[in-house]
Amino acid sequence: MRRRDFDGPDDLRLMQDLVQRTWSPRSRLHIGDVAWERSVNFHRHRDTWRTALWEDNGQLVAWGWAELPDHLSLVVDPVRPEVAAEVIAWFRSLAPSGACSILESETHLVAALEAAGFHPDEEAPFFTHHRISLSDLRSPVVPDGLTLRHVRPDEVEKRGAGHRAAWSDWGPSKVTDEDFAAVMTTWPYRPELDWVVEAPNGDFVATALIWYDEVHGIGLVEPVGCAPEYRRRGLGQAVNLAALHALREAGATDAMVCPRGDDGYPQARALYQSIGFEPGARTQLYVA
Ligand SMILES: CC(C)(COP(=O)(O)OP(=O)(O)OC[C@H]1O[C@@H](n2cnc3c(N)ncnc32)[C@H](O)[C@@H]1OP(=O)(O)O)[C@@H](O)C(=O)NCCC(=O)NCCS
Repeated sequence: MRRRDFDGPDDLRLMQDLVQRTWSPRSRLHIGDVAWERSVNFHRHRDTWRTALWEDNGQLVAWGWAELPDHLSLVVDPVRPEVAAEVIAWFRSLAPSGACSILESETHLVAALEAAGFHPDEEAPFFTHHRISLSDLRSPVVPDGLTLRHVRPDEVEKRGAGHRAAWSDWGPSKVTDEDFAAVMTTWPYRPELDWVVEAPNGDFVATALIWYDEVHGIGLVEPVGCAPEYRRRGLGQAVNLAALHALREAGATDAMVCPRGDDGYPQARALYQSIGFEPGARTQLYVA
């Protein structure tokens, strides 16, 4: 067993390969979560991120991603549960106290966290996995004057602006065009699965990005947004449905999405459930 530090884009792909190789409906992360979170945030957070990879006989069996000062994400091959203790010990050496969010069904991680002295924070916000079969999708509809289409690879600035317009309820979004350029060049990004509603002036006023895992036939919807002045007109539904139809055309059978499950932010799950997504397992924050 050997631990080494993260060393660039090839390692990101290795991390995603582990997520894909070990993925099941019981997994917290889809390859798209890793693609999105790492690509959209990397430029702004590189000074506070530490990432380590654990390899055995040339195969990646675990990785840990510490967002200092206090958060750990980890993926551990369920057939090597003992490695979770090493990942958690590595994190504790960087962050004596901290938190780690996992899916409640990841029993090998629950056991390792509890053995290391972590306990569930029952008051913390959480996310609930939702899933939809693509066999029976409604058709998307947008009001007259608005256009539903997918993004082109040369539209990085417009795509970045569309994201910022929807994601500024809590203060201006920090996501830059450079961040979006990173998103749009990270595997498995595909422009034909990145859908927008375009206003007559060319602005992207609603957006939905899907990441497709071809091995498991399932796409992850992440993220979705609608500019505040266009909300409650069905654009969130329409842009999602259009992206889901494209996902089905790409060969997928299912899609998933992970909105907040607690009552502190119910609008996102309300949107997905209005489309037909059904709730499943939830995340749990463990703290020490
Ligand atoms: C969540 C969001 C994408 C909804 O977009 P939208 O275009 O307003 O959604 P729609 O008009 O298609 O709404 C469809 C249904 O979703 C539900 N819904 C949407 N917004 C809601 C809200 N604020 N409160 C309660 N239910 C809501 C309703 O059931 C709605 O149907 P109705 O209007 O007939 O009641 C938008 O509020 C947004 O961008 N928020 C900030 C970013 C975000 O939270 N993204 C989702 C998390 S990944």
